[in-house]
Amino acid sequence: MLKLVAATKNKGKLEEFRRLLDGLPVEIISWSEVCAELDVDETGATFEENAFLKADAICRATGLPAFADDSGLCIDALDGAPGVFTARYGAEILGAGASDDERMDLVLKRMEGIPKERRTARFVSAICCTFPNGKTLQCRGVCEGHIGFSKAGNGGFGYDPIFYAGGKSFAEMSGEEKDSISHRGKAMVNFKKELSLFLADSI
Ligand code: IMP
Repeated sequence: MLKLVAATKNKGKLEEFRRLLDGLPVEIISWSEVCAELDVDETGATFEENAFLKADAICRATGLPAFADDSGLCIDALDGAPGVFTARYGAEILGAGASDDERMDLVLKRMEGIPKERRTARFVSAICCTFPNGKTLQCRGVCEGHIGFSKAGNGGFGYDPIFYAGGKSFAEMSGEEKDSISHRGKAMVNFKKELSLFLADSI
């Protein structure tokens, strides 16, 4: 079985990755298990660049293939923000240690008075997998939706309670339901295909 490091320290994402890659002959190891002390600055201007920076740093540090997802929320009425800054959105006001709840409140506040038809948004996920021989795989997935007027649901993580797709928020969906339409679900379907081909070629 190929050991593959998932470049995330987020437990919610790790669970999603394991669920989405189920069935492939790979053992998913978490970043915290192999190089918890390593930190990677997400200085890229795009989701793709940030995914590469994380996967490449872990692959170099461990000598194992690694894959990373960089994702974020792009809101049309906020000119595409938070975008690549989704994880640290509003830090200048809320401080670096702000919670997801505080960030969602800030988004809702900044969108006060904006009607439903102008609350369109999308979650984007870019996945990059790098191998010790220098080979890389790149995949992307997008989920279109809108920002609600309030939070709903207790599931998921991050901005799930304010992002609505198909009539309910991501936080109101089961894991399987979210995977079937989510940005990461779509990117992972593409990644699973690419990885299977890569594995078949390397045997
Ligand atoms: P990163 O890709 O780990 O840097 O995460 C970027 C930010 O997007 C974090 O604040 C996440 O909470 C948020 N995010 C990414 N994917 C999702 C999702 O599926 N639901 C809710 N928030 C998400």
